[in-house]
Amino acid sequence: MARPAAYGRLLAAAWTLARHDALLPVELEAQYPPPIRDLGRTLRLLAGKQARDGRPGERLARALVQLGPVAIKLGQLLSTRADIFGAPFAEDLSRLKDRLPPFPAEIARAQVEAALGAPIETQFSEFGEAVAAASLAQAHDARLRDGRRVAVKVLRPNIGVRVAQDSAALAQAAQLVARYVPAARRLEPLAFAQTVIRATELELDLRLEAAGCDELGEVMARDGYMAAPAVIWEGVGKQVLTLEWAPGAPLSDPAALELPGLDRPTLASNLLRAFLSQALDHGVFHADLHEGNLFVEAPAKITAVDYGIVGRLGPDERRYLAEILWGFLDRDYPRVAEVHFRAGYVPAHHDRAAFAQALRAVGEPVFGRAASQVSMSRVLIQLFEITALFDMHLRPELVLLQKTMMTVEGVARRIDPDHDIWAAADPVVRRWIARELAPPAQAKRLAQESLDILQGLKRRLQAPEPTVAVVTTPERDSGWLWFFLGALTTGGAFLLGALA
Ligand SMILES: Nc1ncnc2c1ncn2[C@@H]1O[C@H](COP(=O)(O)OP(=O)(O)O)[C@@H](O)[C@H]1O
Ligand SMILES: [Mg+2]
Repeated sequence: MARPAAYGRLLAAAWTLARHDALLPVELEAQYPPPIRDLGRTLRLLAGKQARDGRPGERLARALVQLGPVAIKLGQLLSTRADIFGAPFAEDLSRLKDRLPPFPAEIARAQVEAALGAPIETQFSEFGEAVAAASLAQAHDARLRDGRRVAVKVLRPNIGVRVAQDSAALAQAAQLVARYVPAARRLEPLAFAQTVIRATELELDLRLEAAGCDELGEVMARDGYMAAPAVIWEGVGKQVLTLEWAPGAPLSDPAALELPGLDRPTLASNLLRAFLSQALDHGVFHADLHEGNLFVEAPAKITAVDYGIVGRLGPDERRYLAEILWGFLDRDYPRVAEVHFRAGYVPAHHDRAAFAQALRAVGEPVFGRAASQVSMSRVLIQLFEITALFDMHLRPELVLLQKTMMTVEGVARRIDPDHDIWAAADPVVRRWIARELAPPAQAKRLAQESLDILQGLKRRLQAPEPTVAVVTTPERDSGWLWFFLGALTTGGAFLLGALA
């Protein structure tokens, strides 16, 4: 099915890429068949000298920023795939700056009034100029009628139409790539394009960002390593988000680190522990923790803004992460190997001892060097590279986690050059292990599983017609097994508790 408009946009996009030598980059020339090589050379000639400035990742980042919000999101997601493109390319791409000139405050005010369905004065006593502007939205400094200072984020006018057009072009491009570029198959272009489109669409509804901020605010308040600004729900709509103004100075301002009374080592630890405990303890994390989104106050308080990207880890991934970190902290490679096999990440036909040996190759160099020199996110990347040799398929959630860890580590080290990420992570990881792998927690989990099964049974017995679920025999069989094991363990745990 031909979509002429989408093809037109694609051609224009291809030319923008070519102008930055990001379409057929010179660095990959040796891999092209002769006609493609000639085409690449011609494009570079037409594009002129500027095409050759910088590394491929930097050139691609420049081109994507010109191409607009969907392309920017594409770049941000591609930069998480260091496992495919290598760390230097991913790092260059991840520095892509989504900053544009703002649109007039008048238009923003009109957008806010449309969202509130009332004149702006009913909510705000002041509504100032934009303080920051990006491809999807911009933020304004404002004051509520009760005097509280707030930040109001407003979507760009008509951005939905633009995103829809670009999404159609991207979907088309993905089809072409899937068909004609066999080397790209590992990335699964069609699924990847859908992820990009979906992620952009989600960011076009600021009510979701409000909910992300609210949820993470609750989670962060539990251990106090980090805080989120309060959501002003009266000022939230699809196109508008109102948050309390974050206290302190943005970390992107170099003066922030010179604040009197600032405890830099604690600040760095708080940042890392905040991230790890969000991911491990709660399975939900702020996935865009760069300096521009972090505000600091003396002695070591951090407030994070910008909840457009929230990462989630299921119980299995959390357990996997805690156990590999624990394994590496204790240098217990057979244990880390065991975790991979048990989780089914590595197919069972591989040799566990050989896999443990590969893990040792990742872990041991870590412990020969000063801890401040060893990057946890690099260890994870290497781990992912090695696991690829053992046919491990990476879960996208873990890739986003690894990428956020890379950002967090970089920021922590700029706050405190001696930051020891392993020492900072240790208490959070051990707390998790002690809680989740201790017998009471296991008994609780089994009890919960048996309860779920009982509930399921009850529903089935009550259902007048057999439901589809009844037909899935393997589940039913293992369900009974779990029920008995659960009952046995729960009973045992109670007995032990009574005896003790
Ligand atoms: N609650 C807030 N308090 C203070 N400044 C804020 C707040 N929210 C946003 N900002 C400022 O506006 C900038 C852009 O907002 P952000 O939510 O990060 O949007 P984007 O997704 O475009 O990065 C932030 O980097 C920060 O400087
Ligand atoms: Mg931001």
